[in-house]
Amino acid sequence: MKLEAIQAAEAKLLLPTYERNPILFVDGEGMNLIDENGNRYLDLLSGIGVNALGYGHPAVIQAIEQQSRKLVHISNLYFHQGQAELALRLTEKTGLDRAFFCNSGTEAWEAAMKLARAYSALKRSEGHAMGTRFLAIENSFHGRTMGALSTTHKEKYREPFEPLIPGVDFVRFNDVDHLRASFSSDVCAILMESIQGEGGIRPVSQEFIAAARALTKSTGALLVVDEIQSGFGRTGKWCAYQHFGVQPDVTTLAKPLAGGLPLGAMLCTEEASRAIHPGLHGTTFGGGPLACAVAMAVMDTIEQEDLLTNIQETGEYFKRQLQDLAAKQESVVEVRGLGLMLSMEMESAELAKRIVTRMLERRILINRTSETVLRFLPPYIMGREHVDLAVRAMNEILTEEDASQHKGVTEWAAKH
Ligand SMILES: Cc1ncc(COP(=O)(O)O)c(C=O)c1O
Repeated sequence: MKLEAIQAAEAKLLLPTYERNPILFVDGEGMNLIDENGNRYLDLLSGIGVNALGYGHPAVIQAIEQQSRKLVHISNLYFHQGQAELALRLTEKTGLDRAFFCNSGTEAWEAAMKLARAYSALKRSEGHAMGTRFLAIENSFHGRTMGALSTTHKEKYREPFEPLIPGVDFVRFNDVDHLRASFSSDVCAILMESIQGEGGIRPVSQEFIAAARALTKSTGALLVVDEIQSGFGRTGKWCAYQHFGVQPDVTTLAKPLAGGLPLGAMLCTEEASRAIHPGLHGTTFGGGPLACAVAMAVMDTIEQEDLLTNIQETGEYFKRQLQDLAAKQESVVEVRGLGLMLSMEMESAELAKRIVTRMLERRILINRTSETVLRFLPPYIMGREHVDLAVRAMNEILTEEDASQHKGVTEWAAKH
């Protein structure tokens, strides 16, 4: 089917959950996606932070090929080789003790929320005073299922589905005083992203995450850090909380974990894991042999190709170029982020939207989050040449936008 036919069929047959860009991608190679007419697009979004190794990486292809000849799925009723091996690697990287595998970010977050509630019940049964209240953070995003949505702040995502689960209070982002004032022994967990992703690529402050750690330690509540967008190498460390020197009790990973295949993980301390016993939580597909094998291959490649160093170096270079752009272009409000999780906030939502469209016309993929924020989540294999291409294009677009705005103002002034 051609693009027009697909568009017509989807318009009739699919739930209208997305406003897709009118491009039909049929192939990919390295940093590039290729459309039906053979046009190449530089991808600085990687399927919203998923395709860590870009497109067609031999390690991913080989892992899929080899594992799919053996086993794709067996359910969680039997053993296969993948989960223990992957859990060993992930626990080493995250500083946590145990893993639960699932299929997506929102499911990993559900598992973390359920663990926190189950752990608080266990603590109460042991005579402690811990309650069931969650403290989540304003401007957060944790997913679309009902539990995750209950801890996601944005009204437009929440409101149509209310009532959501009760017992969630929101704390102002990076407001330590508000966090302290909101906390008490009836809190079972503080929940946060170390770098808010959908909220505009906003890192937590050192003081805020340290305060959350100290408060939860004081009562035995859990500190749960969502690394679904920021984790698994994205910022140049395996988890972004490692930049702050804070160790949570629970973390969640997903997006890039299996290089494009669906896989999520919730990792926790031995202490928190005491709350779980067989039958309490589960999944049919989660942690299947294929997804685990690919995740191992992605981890091997990140290590063998020293991609964390590339993320740090290319990320720093990218951020510097964006900051130089911001110094030249008045319409840029701020540049934020770490490693290859970067953003550039623009002065208006309309301008941000136009830049995304005009970048697409130049065959460079970026996206917009939080209305005014341009977001960059490129594959980990990005090089300086890709940064230069993208920044040059943005500079030209912003200069043209600025000129056309001035032209508009001059014309208006001449008429009035
Ligand atoms: C921080 C964070 N948590 C959770 C999610 C939900 O992940 P998924 O879309 O895989 O369910 C996302 C997705 O964007 C995210 O960025």
